[in-house]
Amino acid sequence: MTLREILQGRFLIGAALNNGQIAGQDPVALEIVKRHFNTITPEDVLKWDALHPAPDRFEFAAADRFAALGEENGLFLVGHTLVWHHQTPSWVFEGARGKPLDGELLLARMREYIRTVVGRYRGRVQGWDVVNEAFEDDGTWRQSPWYTALGEEYVAKAFEFAHEADPDAELYYNDYNLWKMPKCQAAIRLVNSLRGRGIRVDGIGEQAHWVLDGPRVEEIEPALAELEKTGVRVMFTELDIDPLPRPEALIGADISKRLEVAPELDPYRDGLPESVGQRLAERYAEVFRMFVKHRAVSRVTFWCVTDADTWLNNWPVRGRTNHPLLWDRQGRPKPAFHAVVEALKRALTAGA
Ligand code: XIL
Repeated sequence: MTLREILQGRFLIGAALNNGQIAGQDPVALEIVKRHFNTITPEDVLKWDALHPAPDRFEFAAADRFAALGEENGLFLVGHTLVWHHQTPSWVFEGARGKPLDGELLLARMREYIRTVVGRYRGRVQGWDVVNEAFEDDGTWRQSPWYTALGEEYVAKAFEFAHEADPDAELYYNDYNLWKMPKCQAAIRLVNSLRGRGIRVDGIGEQAHWVLDGPRVEEIEPALAELEKTGVRVMFTELDIDPLPRPEALIGADISKRLEVAPELDPYRDGLPESVGQRLAERYAEVFRMFVKHRAVSRVTFWCVTDADTWLNNWPVRGRTNHPLLWDRQGRPKPAFHAVVEALKRALTAGA
């Protein structure tokens, strides 16, 4: 049985693809995608630094391949991400001719970028992560260059520009650690206020870069219930469960933070011990049981396909051997895969 068959449309299920996979260089991962998934997100090729590296230059080749791959296989395409403080070239936040940046210029750049990119994939990329990571974990606004130059309005503008460029596209707000209540409440206030002003918002994406011990379902679920009350859909957009040691301060996915490699931080170079693989399996089963319980959940996307290509081999520590996904380095299903299949079969046939 494949994941998408078991789910029978209950929610979309997918993965993020890296540049090599999009270029067709990883048949093992692509086979898994075609068998099990009905949606894909590009890990990097739809980010600003990939698409618009210099003021006078757009590069669409890789993103075009992503769109074609999705269409050839009938997959729901998610665009990630239009407005973020990372993977955005520094010229975007620099003023003209060495002058300090003014808000008007930054807003004009945002508008041109969104019109060009969303316009190019109009009717093809069906949903966009319009704004990524606008809040700190305590629910205050992140002091990103966007916020500093434009204030809270930058979010509304980004959604408006995206809607103008493709009126049929679904538009999402995306962030990590939304299980933390202050952050969850901030996202809810934002979405309610945008929708109150008539601005289209279709969903809230919780990245879901989790670790083996946390956040616990008892922590994730109350926040999910709050998100659900907004009436927009809820997506788990970047799911992975990291079994390697990670300091508390790095729970979530602040990619600006990194640690030096040390042997005790890389304990499973020769493979994941069976007992840990079993814990990972139970944890995945538990979170999927939670996902199917909530009608608002409309998509679950793994961040990468197999343990060979997970970004967690390089974050928060470079060059580790990580094991956070359902397929191992050879693309073989792990106990975690079978646990998810069993959990879904039970939950869905029990009429959940
Ligand atoms: C990651 C990619 O997977 C890496 O290839 C890249 O080097 C850094 O970004 N939150 C996000 C994603 O929203 O865009 C990040 O993706 C992972 C954390």
